[in-house]
Amino acid sequence: MIDDVAHARTDGLTAIAAARTMDELRAVEADLLGKRGPLARAKAGLGSLPAEQRRDAGRALNEAMAAVQAAADERRAVLVAEVRRAQLASERLDLTEAHRKPSRGHAHLVTQATERLEDTFIGLGFQIAEGPEVETDWYAFGALNMPSSHPARSMWDTLFVDHGPPGSTVLRPHTSPVQIRVMETTPPPIYVVMPGRVFRRDTADATHMPVFHQIEGLVVDRGITFPDLAGTIEAFTKAFFGAEFTSRLRPSYFPFTEPSAEFDIRRPDGTWLELGGCGMVHPNVLTAGGLDPEEWSGFAFGFGIDRMAKERHGVADLREMFSNDIRFIEQF
Ligand code: DAH
Repeated sequence: MIDDVAHARTDGLTAIAAARTMDELRAVEADLLGKRGPLARAKAGLGSLPAEQRRDAGRALNEAMAAVQAAADERRAVLVAEVRRAQLASERLDLTEAHRKPSRGHAHLVTQATERLEDTFIGLGFQIAEGPEVETDWYAFGALNMPSSHPARSMWDTLFVDHGPPGSTVLRPHTSPVQIRVMETTPPPIYVVMPGRVFRRDTADATHMPVFHQIEGLVVDRGITFPDLAGTIEAFTKAFFGAEFTSRLRPSYFPFTEPSAEFDIRRPDGTWLELGGCGMVHPNVLTAGGLDPEEWSGFAFGFGIDRMAKERHGVADLREMFSNDIRFIEQF
């Protein structure tokens, strides 16, 4: 009897160790510990043993059952962990999209364009300045020759910030306010460009974003005239786009310049790209910036950076540039 129990125990432990899956383990357990298993049979036979053998056999039987149960529990834990590991491995998301070696990022298209623009203007003798993205009504409009309720304010679909009296604080809809801040802090001669983020109440589509970027230019010196403006635009066009490109100015209207113009770039294939606005700084704007229009004159210009990046890289839809899709971004 004790021998039978010992056998059953050894066989059972071997079978448990050999179980490769939870199903196999469950089957082995049922065989060993079930009603018709060897241990159950031995247990049933205890009663027919002489009393003096019954105690030892009973103890051996209990020990065997405990050992088999413990081995089964242990094996189950191992199998559960294995299943879990396999599941994790199969469900693992490859967030690197097949790039095994760490790749170095690069500046965003708009940042690249801004830096190239800055480099080009620095090459033409300009300095760089920046201003705040949240502006007061005065800097965004008033100082730019647009007193309150001036109809030209509607040229900018402005986003207002809930701060101070209603309408007094805006997300700047253009970079032109930085002209005033520069005039206030920099004694002329002034040759600066001012890149930055601007905001308009616009629905995003292929050519518009509610958040975009502009670069503003301001020159204030003695005896600056319209030909200086035209020559600067032309010099910039050639320096930035290449010698095969030229520029033209078309009459236009902006409240902060007089006269005002729109400037276009002519591509080598003869097609035109509308780039931005420009003009001679309005005397009221010089005065708002603390400068005497009798002594100083100047010109200003402003254009969109995102569209330049779009043009340069042949991007069909502006929204692509801000959707952060790595497959798009890594092309540049
Ligand atoms: N601020 C104008 C805009 O956002 C662009 C512009 C036009 C800037 C003429 C200028 C300028 O400096 O002289 O539409």
